[in-house]
Amino acid sequence: MSEDALSALLVREHRELDALFGAYLAALGSPGAAERLADFDRRFRSHAEVEETRAFAPLASAGSLSPAAESALRLEHVQIRELCSISASRYGAGRPEEARALAGNLARRIASHQEREESLLCPLLDSGLGPEPAALLRAKISTG
Ligand SMILES: [Fe+2]
Ligand SMILES: [Fe+2]
Repeated sequence: MSEDALSALLVREHRELDALFGAYLAALGSPGAAERLADFDRRFRSHAEVEETRAFAPLASAGSLSPAAESALRLEHVQIRELCSISASRYGAGRPEEARALAGNLARRIASHQEREESLLCPLLDSGLGPEPAALLRAKISTG
């Protein structure tokens, strides 16, 4: 039985995140926007945590991912989480127009982060992880 490559699983998660963020964009200006943002934020946080612990860390230990690349990817996670938090706090403060003003910035950061991961990280996932870290990542990424 053939298994999907880890890179394919990661890309699939990215498209799921895109769909959640798309639902948020579609809800901008409506009462459900804060909830859609929370859906994306929850999923993004769990995705980023799996990446950091089960992909970046073992790839960096194996010398496949450079320290500079690892820091850049981690920093992008921080920036995306921060923009989500700021947006959520604007909704909480009853100022949805301020959250809406941040949505384009957030969309661009998510897209460029995913592009970087798909070009830099995906090839490493399929060739640079040993069998044990690969199995640990697969277990997490497959169950969400
Ligand atoms: Fe990421
Ligand atoms: Fe990712």
